[in-house]
Order: sequence, then structure tokens, then C-alpha cells
Amino acid sequence: MSKKPVRVAVTGAAGQIGYALLFRIASGEMLGKDQPVILQLLEVPVEKAQEALKGVMMELDDCAFPLLAGMEAHSDPMTAFKDTDYALLVGARPRGPGMERADLLAANAQIFTAQGKALNAVASRNVKVLVVGNPANTNAYIAMKSAPDLPAKNFTAMLRLDHNRALSQIAAKTGKPVASIQKLAVWGNHSPTMYADYRFATIDGASVKDMINDQVWNAETFLPTVGKRGAAIIAARGVSSAASAANAAIDHMRDWALGTNGGWVTMGVPSKGEYGIPKEVMFGYPVTCANGEYSIVEGLPIDAFSQECINKTLAELQGEQDGVKHLL
Ligand code: NAD
Ligand code: LMR
Repeated sequence: MSKKPVRVAVTGAAGQIGYALLFRIASGEMLGKDQPVILQLLEVPVEKAQEALKGVMMELDDCAFPLLAGMEAHSDPMTAFKDTDYALLVGARPRGPGMERADLLAANAQIFTAQGKALNAVASRNVKVLVVGNPANTNAYIAMKSAPDLPAKNFTAMLRLDHNRALSQIAAKTGKPVASIQKLAVWGNHSPTMYADYRFATIDGASVKDMINDQVWNAETFLPTVGKRGAAIIAARGVSSAASAANAAIDHMRDWALGTNGGWVTMGVPSKGEYGIPKEVMFGYPVTCANGEYSIVEGLPIDAFSQECINKTLAELQGEQDGVKHLL
């Protein structure tokens, strides 16, 4: 017997990430090749955006995806999020050349307050929320704080792009396949302060740290390359990353919904005090996922260099949080 369709809301559906994301959701890459989906697509109530959304929906129609059980266009989060089981909050103003993600804070805070309230009012009580729109951690924090009737753990921020970027850099450095790298962690904010940490990582059981054995490369090449990758792509393309961001969103939701078989991935999730991070800070942690739930990997030793990196990214996140306090 075929499965009952689930509702997937996507905001910013006519944007560049939306264009790289929707077709993969509808083809079953996110929730499984046996899971029908109904897409509830939100765009701003502006004619140009709504027209562009119509065009994307025509293309979705033209793919004749067997798993696409329905599709709706919305301009109001109160209807777009009705009964939704999954919400991918992509729509936001992206940064351009020379801007830091923090510059987007004020512009985007209002969007995520309104969307958090709408999720609180009309979404499924089990909705899984992924915030992609930048600054992703703080936008996720705002949405979570604006939805007091939903469990805080249902709100997450996308650190998976940083995780995937770090995997690729390690694969290139060690000459080993990406898929062979286990137990990578990325701590903190989706920003240049994030701390990609390969101290626990292994390849075929061997320690990645011992294989690389180069703290100068770690501090002066690896961390800046991963941390500044978004800016490097903006400098090269003139617009921010889209296909790799959509890919990371698929990875994040798929693993959350379908599990990681014990493997570690990185998710931005509200802290419950793990590793000394104050409660509710939306922090990148190594997690495992099973039965539709994530669990933070606990008990990892934090050395002095790592603690310094974690303190730095935490301070930035707390600064962002302070900057939006008045809106909550
Ligand atoms: P884009 O400008 O191409 O598309 C954004 C779309 O969102 C636009 O169509 C716009 O009309 C829509 N939008 C704006 N406000 C909205 C609202 N309130 N409700 C619904 N839709 C709204 O941008 P993009 O390249 O798709 O990027 C989207 C966001 O994702 C940006 O904030 C970008 O910085 C961020 N991003 C995050 C990551 C990450 O790793 N977390 C990676 C890449 C991009
Ligand atoms: C990225 O990391 O590519 C995105 O967050 C876009 C950006 O502004 O850097």
C-alpha cells in the first residue's frame, strides 16, 4: 500500500535555492522514493515573484513526478504552513559582495518572527523546521522563540553546507573518498567563525588528525577555506551558493527524517546546555539521527584550541541574539 502524502512547505520557492531544491524534493531525494509529497510554496506577495513561482510550478508539472501528490502557491505564511509536516525556510534577503551575514540580521528578523508565529498557529505539531535563510542560526532562533507552542527541538539551522565543505577539503588533503570520512563535527554559527573539527574524524578506522598531522594547515588553510567559502562563491559567481545549499538542505532533512545509521552529521539545534553552550542558543553540533529525532553527540573532549574556537563562534551568536532581543 502506498504511503500517505506528507506536506512540505518551502519559502522563497521562486529563488535560486528554491529552483535547485524543489525538483529534488519532488523526485523523492529528501524523504524517500516511496514517500509522496504535497508542496506548499511561499513567495512574497509581489506580482513578479508570484509569476516566477507559477513558472517553477509549470516546470514541476512538466516533470510528471510520480511522488508529487499536490502543489500550492501561497503569498501568506498562515496558509502556506497549514498542517505542514516539514518547513524549509529559505526565503530571505541574500547577501551580496562585501556584505557579512550579520548585515542581514535586521532585514530578515521580521520575516522569521512572522513565519515562526504562523508555524505556531497552523503547522503540524510535529513539524520539522530547517532554516536556510541567513543569518541561519539566528533566524532559526527567532522562529523558535516566535512559536512557543511547538517543541523547541523542532527548529534547526543549516550547518550542513559547512559540514559538506569540510568533508571535501579533508578528502582533497588526504586523497581519500569523501564517503570514507566519518565523525566530522562543525561547531557553532553558519558564518566564518564556525569551527570545523576533524579531531575525532576517521577514514577506514584511522585518525584523520594523525593522517594530516599539520596544525598550521588546520588553522591557516582548512578553517579559513571552509569558513569563507560562501564569500568565495559570491566573489566568483556574483550571487550566493545555490545548488550546494539546496543539496545540503536535502541532506539535512533526509538524515533527520530517515536517520544516519549511527553516522555523525552537523545540525544547528537549540542547545540544552551541551558543551557549556547556554540553553536555547541555536548552535552547530555533531548529531546522530534515528526514528525522526536527532541526538547531540556528547562527551567529546574539548582541547584549548577547540575551546577558543567554540568561544569565538558562541560570542558571535550571542551578539546576534542580543541584536534581535527587542523583536521577540
Ligand atoms: P534568492 O534571492 O535567489 O531567493 C530568495 C527568495 O525568497 C526570493 O524569490 C524572494 O522573493 C523570496 N522571499 C524573500 N522574503 C520572503 C518571505 N518573507 N517569504 C517568502 N519568500 C520570501 O536567494 P537564494 O540564493 O535562494 O538564498 C536564500 C537565502 O538562503 C539567503 O538568505 C541566503 O543567504 C541563504 N543561504 C544560506 C545558506 C546556508 O548554508 N545556510 C547557503 C546559501 C544561501
Ligand atoms: C553560503 O555559505 O554559501 C551562504 O551562507 C551564502 C553566503 O552568504 O555566504
